[in-house]
Amino acid sequence: MTTNDDVDWDTEAVTFDDEPDHGLRDPEVRQAWADRLAAWLPARPADVLDLGCGTGSLSLLAAEQGHRVTGVDLSPAMVDRARAKLAGRAAVFLVGDAATPPVGDERFDVVLVRHVLWTLPDPERVLRAWAGLLRPGGTSHAFGSEGGRLVLIEGVWGTVSPVGIPAERLTGLLAPLAQDVRVERLSDDARLWGREVQDERYAVVARPSTQ
Ligand SMILES: C[S@@+](CC[C@H](N)C(=O)[O-])C[C@H]1O[C@@H](n2cnc3c(N)ncnc32)[C@H](O)[C@@H]1O
Repeated sequence: MTTNDDVDWDTEAVTFDDEPDHGLRDPEVRQAWADRLAAWLPARPADVLDLGCGTGSLSLLAAEQGHRVTGVDLSPAMVDRARAKLAGRAAVFLVGDAATPPVGDERFDVVLVRHVLWTLPDPERVLRAWAGLLRPGGTSHAFGSEGGRLVLIEGVWGTVSPVGIPAERLTGLLAPLAQDVRVERLSDDARLWGREVQDERYAVVARPSTQ
């Protein structure tokens, strides 16, 4: 992976799904992500905001699990693919910045973000904004006292010039915002990536403390 500034995501969209963990075309890889997502998302139907949704692969898994999805991506080509992938499902896709998603006053039960936070300037501010997009716990019509949560899937890629955000840094950024922060290591599950990986890959499920 390179830095976000180096990447033309509209061009990347053409071949993005060719990577096993992007397109989730291999049934084993797909099932591995479906199982993780089912554990991270609420058991009852919820409103999920997928930021930097790309071609909508995780959005589709969430929709298949009964959730309503709003996806946001800066790249119109990615959004086109996501719309096609989830045609006929309870999902809408918007072109916009994940740091300031164009969702107005709408609030969500889950903000889901995979492999995007590390590319955004000022992640501390962005995390605060995302926490503010969650419905307060106890009043969520979707899953009652389960409350809203951030589901952040990130990592550190490469060895010579690594890029990304280490779990320790992300949990540090979340500490002032969240009362409950759970880190799940993903590097040792080759099924998720379609191959063995050595670098740091993880998910964080965080429940903001304002709930
Ligand atoms: C590595 S891909 C991840 C896509 C998707 N989350 C997934 O896991 O399959 C990064 C995505 O973030 C999008 N992106 C990059 N910067 C963004 C921003 N500031 N706001 C919204 N989307 C952004 C890109 O267009 C691309 O679709």
